Amino acid sequence: MSKKSLEKRHSETAIFAALYRAVANKEFKNERFGSDYLAEYFFPFPLKFLIKFKMIRVNLKNKSHKFTPGIYEYVLARTAFFDNVFLDALKENIPQIVVLGAGYDTRAYRFQKLNNTTKIIELDISTTQNRKKKCLKKAQIDRPKHVTLVPINLNKESLKNVLEKAGYKNNEKTLFIWEGVNYYLEPESVDATTQFLPVPEQLGRKLSSVRQFEWGRSGKSLAYSSAGEKEEMGCITHWFIRGERSKSCSFCCHSPSS
Ligand SMILES: C[S@@+](CC[C@H](N)C(=O)[O-])C[C@H]1O[C@@H](n2cnc3c(N)ncnc32)[C@H](O)[C@@H]1O
Repeated sequence: MSKKSLEKRHSETAIFAALYRAVANKEFKNERFGSDYLAEYFFPFPLKFLIKFKMIRVNLKNKSHKFTPGIYEYVLARTAFFDNVFLDALKENIPQIVVLGAGYDTRAYRFQKLNNTTKIIELDISTTQNRKKKCLKKAQIDRPKHVTLVPINLNKESLKNVLEKAGYKNNEKTLFIWEGVNYYLEPESVDATTQFLPVPEQLGRKLSSVRQFEWGRSGKSLAYSSAGEKEEMGCITHWFIRGERSKSCSFCCHSPSS
């Protein structure tokens, strides 16, 4: 799907990410790798019904492996990783969590009982976000009162302005989750976003340079920089904490940088 068409059509890649999580939920049925018990609500009826069957799931996984080796396992690992980041923030009663390009992220709903005071702002392009709202309504999943869904086109609008209108407080400690989004954006929008987030300079430069992302048939996922250099897939998923001691970490990194 082209970048421009996202204003007219919801994101298909967000559906794929949810599909892997739904399949994993049926396969593993455990908190570590199959935690997303709500992911299935984002599919039309036949698929929601069909993934109950092991044969269908095996078929889906085989097809996915053929075209993008490793992506199923990658999405599972990334979901488990960000679940923990999110849960840690809730345990700490962090005042705000901002999810950029949230797609069908269900953490605000799955973990609502553990949320005492944290305000959660989900940002996404309106087409994807409207579809998410419709699916949640159809599944009778109520949006918790501290969760706000705010539309944004990160290629056109100022993140700061949109967030401030949504009640975001710049002086409060905040976890930002940027999971699998930056490589869909225009380079200038990535720059603007990294300037707003507490992104360390070196990582900001790296992120800004990512121009294209693809899953190699070799089983490796690579992002290409403007100079044609290849980066490991870890460079496409991140979290950042703005606060007294800002922190950041990329999925796949070993220790957070302060
Ligand atoms: C691969 S999906 C990832 C969704 C979610 N973070 C996850 O990991 O499941 C990419 C998301 O980025 C969003 N996105 C892409 N371009 C965008 C833009 N210009 N502005 C806002 N969101 C955008 C899509 O709508 C989609 O939800």
